[in-house]
Amino acid sequence: MAQLWGGRFTKETDKLVYNFNASISFDQKFYEQDIRGSKAHVKMLAKQGILTEKERDQILEGLEGILADVKAGRLAITSEYEDIHSFVEANLIDRIGDPGKKLHTGRSRNDQVALDMKLYVRDEIDEIDQEVKSLLEALQKIMEENVHTYMPGFTHLQKAQPVTLAHHVGAYFEMFRRDRGRLFDIRKRMNTCPLGAGALAGTTYPLDREYTAQLLDFDEPTRNSMDSVSDRDYVIELLSALSTVMMHLSRFSEEIILWNSNEYRFVEIDDAYSTGSIMPQKKNPDIAELVRGKTGRVYGALTSILTTMKGIPLAYNKDMQEDKELTFDAIDTVKGCILLFTGMIDTMTFNKDVMEASTKHGFTNATDAADYLVNHGVPFRDAHGIVGQLVLFCEEKGIALDDMTLEEYKAISPVFEDDIYEAISLETCVNKRITIGAPGPEAMEKVIKIYKEYLSK
Ligand code: ARG
Repeated sequence: MAQLWGGRFTKETDKLVYNFNASISFDQKFYEQDIRGSKAHVKMLAKQGILTEKERDQILEGLEGILADVKAGRLAITSEYEDIHSFVEANLIDRIGDPGKKLHTGRSRNDQVALDMKLYVRDEIDEIDQEVKSLLEALQKIMEENVHTYMPGFTHLQKAQPVTLAHHVGAYFEMFRRDRGRLFDIRKRMNTCPLGAGALAGTTYPLDREYTAQLLDFDEPTRNSMDSVSDRDYVIELLSALSTVMMHLSRFSEEIILWNSNEYRFVEIDDAYSTGSIMPQKKNPDIAELVRGKTGRVYGALTSILTTMKGIPLAYNKDMQEDKELTFDAIDTVKGCILLFTGMIDTMTFNKDVMEASTKHGFTNATDAADYLVNHGVPFRDAHGIVGQLVLFCEEKGIALDDMTLEEYKAISPVFEDDIYEAISLETCVNKRITIGAPGPEAMEKVIKIYKEYLSK
């Protein structure tokens, strides 16, 4: 048990207490960030004359050696250390001797862990952003190819009006684009450097906090040392943004599960992304179901950290160590889900004929039939009633509005003429909707162009 703080203690820590307290089993995940932070700290100390250049160089070399050895698997991070900070420091002292003991000058593990967590979260935000971007690229490709692919738009899971596959997928494009915006905002807001805050009250060493911030690509140092070591708002914001990403993925997964069902048959998930069952006929949408299921885990992480933080007095308290496992798990879960989901939709087949047939047989053009009457002077309420009668008639005969004869139309309302067929054709219903945001191909092409430009940046 290698501890950094043994001085005032007369007894060894109880083994169970030690294990309960230790965080090395999970905080080893940010060894790279811990070393990156230490290197910046040491450069700053030397610039301020707190360390000599020689000491700086020895420490930097030692830290780089540790990093290389851990990366290459030559140096194992083991549970004999309490946390990743102790592991790095102890190994440094083993390697270079006394100068290693100066690494922690003007620093506490409180501002150190605050820094490590920020660096880690910031790196992961960048990775997640790239994954969401790839997902958007996959969506954009589907949109481009399906501006004329008709499908029913639903409300209450009942066929409502015809839309296109491009339009439906475009709704998800908007959701994931907003998700990227949220990640961007969080990254910007959290990008202040806590190093130099010390345990809670800054230090008496003449640290140059601006310089450290700059070395680590932060916009500026944090402005209150107590807040610096006890702020986990950005973790909460991130988990909230990730919960929203999962909510979007989960809704889309739910639709894909429905579309892949025997009743819908709108899509076929590729064999590589489906799994079999003891029932030989089955091809299950397990990936979509798992993405939907894992959403609960990410929501759980958000609820957990919110609850952990709510009663913590200023400044650092050990409760905050609980931020790590759940954040790491949520980040890994989200990254895995986006990756798999993107692969699944990239390889999925859309049964365009089935989608179109389904659009025709669901009275999705009933609103357009009513609009036809309104355009011929019938008040909307009356038109609504007339079309209701048409639907009833068709349902009894098991046909679509398009299949009725003109005589049958006229028997219900004399206003109908031969041009009703054109007015309620799928093409017309969709193509006429050309205001910005509507499914008409003309409107869609414009939006797709905007998306393309957005993705090229
Ligand atoms: N493992 C701790 C954490 O994750 C590091 C900070 C510990 N600071 C301390 N004074 N014990 O929060």
